Amino acid sequence: MSTPMLEIADLHVSYGQVDAVRGISLALMPGQIVSVIGPNGAGKTTLLGAAMGLLPSKGGLRFEGEDLHAMDVEARVERGLCLVPEKRELFGELSVLDNLMLGAYARRPGQSSLQQRLNAVYERFPRLLERRAQRSDTLSGGERQMLALGRALMSQPRLLMLDEPSLGLAPLVVQEILKIVRGLRDDGVSILLVEQNARAALQSSDHGYVIETGEIALSGASDALASDPRVQATYLGGTTDED
Ligand SMILES: Nc1ncnc2c1ncn2[C@@H]1O[C@H](COP(=O)(O)OP(=O)(O)OP(=O)(O)O)[C@@H](O)[C@H]1O
Ligand SMILES: [Mg+2]
Repeated sequence: MSTPMLEIADLHVSYGQVDAVRGISLALMPGQIVSVIGPNGAGKTTLLGAAMGLLPSKGGLRFEGEDLHAMDVEARVERGLCLVPEKRELFGELSVLDNLMLGAYARRPGQSSLQQRLNAVYERFPRLLERRAQRSDTLSGGERQMLALGRALMSQPRLLMLDEPSLGLAPLVVQEILKIVRGLRDDGVSILLVEQNARAALQSSDHGYVIETGEIALSGASDALASDPRVQATYLGGTTDED
């Protein structure tokens, strides 16, 4: 058995009296896309915040066997963890290029040069190259998500955590973004994908977890989850299929 890249065991996260994550366990093997789906307020963003070190947590939290609790956010970024937050957090008044450069602050030994990384991002997102001098608040929603992904890639992550990349995007744009996410996986970046859009997430992931009120309700191979009657009834019912 190989070691999981990310291993979360009986994790608890609270905001004062509110227990937002209540004993979640999850494993992500290298090279996988693992999705975490669940409704509003289930604890998805909180889980990612704890993994990134933005929120204190209790329980097992390991990256390649190493205890993440012992590392601050910067040390986690140095190991190769990277979070694309729900609100993208771009600097609207700055150009596309300047936003990309902000993602490059963390440097690990053996990493490629800034110019090489920038070229790789532009190759993956030709639209960002076209718009590199443009203020980022002039971008479309899909382009903003591309910029958020591109900025994350500037740190050459090994585990990319995406918080609802489909949020606010039209169905076709969601498909475009998820195609890029699968391309990243195929290029060796492991991905923890948090989504309310269960259909899109399960279509694009290898393994999935359903979380409800801070706990794992169901988990399994994504295709098995997608055909599970409980998932269909609660998360896939009534939604239209884009493909
Ligand atoms: N800063 C905070 N202070 C207090 N409670 C919070 C805070 N942030 C989140 N919560 C609560 O923690 C729970 C989990 O929230 P979280 O944002 O992790 O959910 P989520 O699954 O990401 O939801 P969404 O799909 O709406 O983004 C919710 O009950 C929420 O109200
Ligand atoms: Mg959230």
